[in-house]
Amino acid sequence: MADDRPCSRGFRFERSRIVEHRIIAKDTWQLTFRSEALAGSTLPGQFFMVRLADCNDPLIGRALAMFDRGLDVQGRPETISVAYVVKGKFTRALSDLHVGQSIEVWGPLGNAFSTEPVDHLVMVAGGVGITPMLCLASAALGLENYGPESNGPQASPSPYAQQVTLCYGARTREYLAGLDSFESRKVRLAIATEDGSLGHRGRVTEVLEEVLDGSQGSVRIACCGPEPMMQAVSRIAQRRGVRCEVSLETPMACGIGICFTCVAKIDQGDGSWDYRRTCIEGPIFEAQSIVW
Ligand SMILES: Cc1cc2nc3c(=O)[nH]c(=O)nc-3n(C[C@H](O)[C@H](O)[C@H](O)COP(=O)(O)OP(=O)(O)OC[C@H]3O[C@@H](n4cnc5c(N)ncnc54)[C@H](O)[C@@H]3O)c2cc1C
Ligand code: FES
Repeated sequence: MADDRPCSRGFRFERSRIVEHRIIAKDTWQLTFRSEALAGSTLPGQFFMVRLADCNDPLIGRALAMFDRGLDVQGRPETISVAYVVKGKFTRALSDLHVGQSIEVWGPLGNAFSTEPVDHLVMVAGGVGITPMLCLASAALGLENYGPESNGPQASPSPYAQQVTLCYGARTREYLAGLDSFESRKVRLAIATEDGSLGHRGRVTEVLEEVLDGSQGSVRIACCGPEPMMQAVSRIAQRRGVRCEVSLETPMACGIGICFTCVAKIDQGDGSWDYRRTCIEGPIFEAQSIVW
């Protein structure tokens, strides 16, 4: 299939000031920084490499996807939010930062989700795989423009999906992030928690099957989360003949195509596979092209 995913090339490096930093779910933070340039150029699905300012520990930046974008009073792109789960060295240090402090950011990096028109866009997220879904939903429902088109007075955005559903799985309800934001954007929610504390008790793939059973017209899946979950979603999509895009979270070092730490095995379409760099040829790939 021809690659119809848009891409905002020409990344920039910035030292950006934190304007908001708050907990949005268990162990999960939303950090908002000011950057008119990045807010006016980043597309849903793209990411940034983030480092602590004036600090070489950890030396290597970490990839964080765009979670949300803020506008100024005149409707011009002004801020970017990332969301992260406190896991290891970098995210622990990041969670100690306060409003007014700075981070080093380079981006926008990678490709974006497809904007091909579809009747029903089904987003499937596991854990912190929720991060790229909020902007994707806003773009698909025509609520906001992203990328270079969003610069200046907001040109009226046009929807490319009639309906958007979020299938969202987490360990317990405490780990679910941003539900209000999705609901206020008229996204249909289908929740699964392992302990049944909210929604279906079990796996997100089970609610996905139900959503697909009840769906009419053309469907496309956009998926992000732990690799076994993305693999399971990919199998469901293949069995049903539904197009599925997955956003891979392979560990990265440079984020700009130099170090080759981020490679994934991608089917070449002729029975062979080759490595592709997730940071510049991804992070979004057709699920059927991935050699899991
Ligand atoms: C394109 C892309 C987008 C991403 N977007 C987000 C995001 O929006 N929010 C977010 O919280 N994280 C995101 N990540 C993951 C993020 O880059 C970091 O890897 C993660 O935050 C852990 O960093 P750390 O320094 O706290 O943990 P580390 O000390 O680096 O690692 C802690 C533990 O997590 C494991 N780990 C590290 N990196 C990964 C990974 N990429 N996948 C699975 N396990 C890993 C390590 O093996 C270790 O066991 C993204 C990754 C990619 C490639
Ligand atoms: S992270 Fe260095 S090549 Fe992709």
